[in-house]
Amino acid sequence: MRIPLVIGNWKMNGTLVEARALATAVRDGLKRPRGTEVVLCPPFTALAAVSEIVAGTPIGLGAQNCHAEASGAHTGEVAPPMLVELGCRLVLLGHSERRKELGETDDQINRKVAGVLAHGLTPVLCVGESGEERRQGLTFTTVEGQLRAGLAGLDGASIARTVLAYEPVWAIGTGVNATPAQAAEVHGYVRGLVSELTSKEIAQTVRIVYGGSVKADNADALMGEADIDGALVGGASLNASGFIAIVRKAARGAASRGE
Ligand code: PGA
Repeated sequence: MRIPLVIGNWKMNGTLVEARALATAVRDGLKRPRGTEVVLCPPFTALAAVSEIVAGTPIGLGAQNCHAEASGAHTGEVAPPMLVELGCRLVLLGHSERRKELGETDDQINRKVAGVLAHGLTPVLCVGESGEERRQGLTFTTVEGQLRAGLAGLDGASIARTVLAYEPVWAIGTGVNATPAQAAEVHGYVRGLVSELTSKEIAQTVRIVYGGSVKADNADALMGEADIDGALVGGASLNASGFIAIVRKAARGAASRGE
């Protein structure tokens, strides 16, 4: 019912030479990805090159961020129509690294979500608690606040087109992933909240992916959970064979759940 989605978030990695080699290796290793949607998010500078490499294949292209507006006096920013022109179908928004390093606010992220939807792109709204928030028992409070603010003002149809990513900050780039049970608990909570914000039917269609130290050797267990609809992969997406293994495990996980 929900096709799993595996996104490679290359972050600030990949010169053109490196990006071409990685995208080519992923493309050649995944000639016919079965039962999974795969999207690569290289840095802006490599989008055009990777777009050419994956053109005509089932592998999609995504960006790691964008501005809310379609054009204007915003030095250094990239607008949704520019991404559409390059063949992007998806944009990561509200990644914790941007929230933390650049002070991105829920309000800015909300405007970006609406902005990318207006241009037919799929927003991937990232939410997640810090280690301190988890220790203080504030996981659900934080995730709820980020979701309500990030999705504010959107109608059910818009939320249905949005992908949600649960990425506990303490698990990102640390090698310490959330356990399948920890992730499943929050994914179930997120789906419940989407149901409250929209309807039960829409909540059943929204994909909620997990991110935070996903690797080939923990993907099976995470992807086997009913409410985990794929992965947002950072570090492990920089290695083609490791990333491909994660894609295959996501497909197997969904198949074993009867989806
Ligand atoms: P990681 O990053 O897989 O390196 O933990 C995930 C992310 O930040 O999207």
